Amino acid sequence: MKILAILYNGFKAAEEEPRLLGTVENKLGLEDWLKSQGHELIVSSDKEGPDSVFQKNIVDAEVLITTPFHPGYLTRELFDKAKNLKICITAGVGSDHIDLNAAVDHKIQVLEVSGSNVVSVAEHVVMSILLLVRNFIPAHEMIERGDWQVSDIARNAFDLENKVIGTIGAGRIGYRVLQRLVPFDPKELIYYDYAPLPAAAAEAVKARRVEDLKEFVSQCDVVTVNCPLHEGTRGLVNDELLSHFKKGAWLVNTARGAICDKDAVARALASGQLAGYSGDVWDVQPAPKDHVWRKAKNPLGGGNGMVPHYSGTTLDAQARYANGVRSILENYLSGKPQEPQNIIIGLGKYETKAYGQR
Ligand code: NAI
Repeated sequence: MKILAILYNGFKAAEEEPRLLGTVENKLGLEDWLKSQGHELIVSSDKEGPDSVFQKNIVDAEVLITTPFHPGYLTRELFDKAKNLKICITAGVGSDHIDLNAAVDHKIQVLEVSGSNVVSVAEHVVMSILLLVRNFIPAHEMIERGDWQVSDIARNAFDLENKVIGTIGAGRIGYRVLQRLVPFDPKELIYYDYAPLPAAAAEAVKARRVEDLKEFVSQCDVVTVNCPLHEGTRGLVNDELLSHFKKGAWLVNTARGAICDKDAVARALASGQLAGYSGDVWDVQPAPKDHVWRKAKNPLGGGNGMVPHYSGTTLDAQARYANGVRSILENYLSGKPQEPQNIIIGLGKYETKAYGQR
């Protein structure tokens, strides 16, 4: 059996740190096991264009392993060419880099390691909210420059206490963000999701559901995006929606870059409609050098907390999603049923309600 894995390069770091399992070098820890079973494992980061390792090997691979951190974009056109493909496994959470509707049509299963990095991301979200609200990055940059002017930082630094914080998407990550924010004594926690939280869960964090998105954002001092990318969320945060935000709100997006219109966000930052934008996800990954989010700033020259896509690939998370990929593969090879929570696309149908209302 041919297994193709598209992962990110680890280079020197991966040689020095074997726990960087999600890299080309360390191959999710699968190499010895799969080879001992007589399977062929091809691992590469080369994913763009018809001559890439990805596109050349997808034509006869039976299993495709991809990672959201360095997404191999499996388009409908590539599905048409992938004659042997039976199962796509996402090493992590978030399978929007795969054309899921095409997977349904081609009866190819798509599985994720659900839950594997949700705490990792929730912690990053809370950190990102704090670094924006407290104006941390310009303060640190000032220190490195050798300067010291407290008023230049303090003029745009606030407390999180007594703010209204809202999450778009209150699933595994969104809910964990709400849980972690409770001790900061926010004025209110609110959420926008077509699936209401179970009453006990909502009560535990005292979260109120707002059913209209414009009304929801207009009440928030901080908005955090925690829903999957699908037809219903692509470009959801655009000029129109941003005009309904409170002036000077902070926006954190660790879900997927394409949920926010990149130019609209940059414009909102430049005008001060947003005081800050932070996240680790980009509409194309790796992000081009001239991506507008790399240097977008608010009128005071701060408000940018962007980093490369790593919130869900801490070493703790890598151990969990590498184990998860192995157990999905073991189930596949032995014909055992898969864990239901990991199945995004079953044979010819969506098995999750999280990728849009159908
Ligand atoms: P989940 O499936 O537990 O929760 C997703 C929630 O979003 C569900 O409650 C669903 O009803 C809701 N939702 C879907 N469409 C919506 C819409 N149009 N409006 C409002 N809510 C909507 O997923 P989980 O584990 O919380 O992950 C969410 C997303 O976070 C993933 O799909 C992925 O894109 C992203 N992620 C990012 C990572 C990173 O490293 N930055 C790592 C892991 C996940």
